[in-house]
Amino acid sequence: MQNLSSNTSIAELEARSPAMLAALKSTGMFREGDSSVTIGELCLDFGLHPQIILNMLARAGQNDPPPDIDISELESLSLPEIVSHVEAAHHQTARESMPGTVALVRQVVAAHAERDARLREVQTLFEKMATELEDHMIHEEGALFPMCRDMSELGSIKATPCGDRVGGPIQCMTNDHNQSKQELARLCELTDDFTAPAHADAQYTDMLQQLKAFADDLTLHIHTEDHLLFPRALEMQASLRERGQNP
Ligand SMILES: [Fe+2]
Ligand SMILES: [Fe+2]
Repeated sequence: MQNLSSNTSIAELEARSPAMLAALKSTGMFREGDSSVTIGELCLDFGLHPQIILNMLARAGQNDPPPDIDISELESLSLPEIVSHVEAAHHQTARESMPGTVALVRQVVAAHAERDARLREVQTLFEKMATELEDHMIHEEGALFPMCRDMSELGSIKATPCGDRVGGPIQCMTNDHNQSKQELARLCELTDDFTAPAHADAQYTDMLQQLKAFADDLTLHIHTEDHLLFPRALEMQASLRERGQNP
């Protein structure tokens, strides 16, 4: 069997792996009856780099299960409602909590780093993640989120600095999410899954609880966007295009 590539057609994908086909369908890019179209052609339509989809399909083909997170109660929301939910439940929460956690980590590192050198890496890593997340949220709020609201309210997309197709910002956001997932895994590793050591005082324990809350919320935030918001945005652009409104 040939390697998966942008020249792989939907029919070939279906023969190769039902899990991969299901993953592609979950993006909303693929419409039934299009089985001769290639992955590269689908991606071109949405302004999405094929490697993003190929990486996603490769993970699906490895039976990489999604995180055990239930977001089914959000599925009845409209696209703008999902955007508003993400802003209120995750962006605002992160912005409210991160400065205090950064300050607390610094205090704990100053008091305990001599006993556990990993704490210095915790500080460097968490400060990097907090900066990256703020930049990421600004990017979403300046491009993808207005595009989603435009599609719903106007039936078209007003150009943003990231263009007028949702695939461009989704590609950037997916790259950022993948980086964040790697950083979250490292944060878990460095803190022994947020487990307090025997010498931890109340401040140290509080820091671990705040880091765990940050990690849990970021995991849910990323999952909601990857598995609900992004597929819905692609789906809405596809449906507007089918109706002759061509964002
Ligand atoms: Fe977000
Ligand atoms: Fe995001």
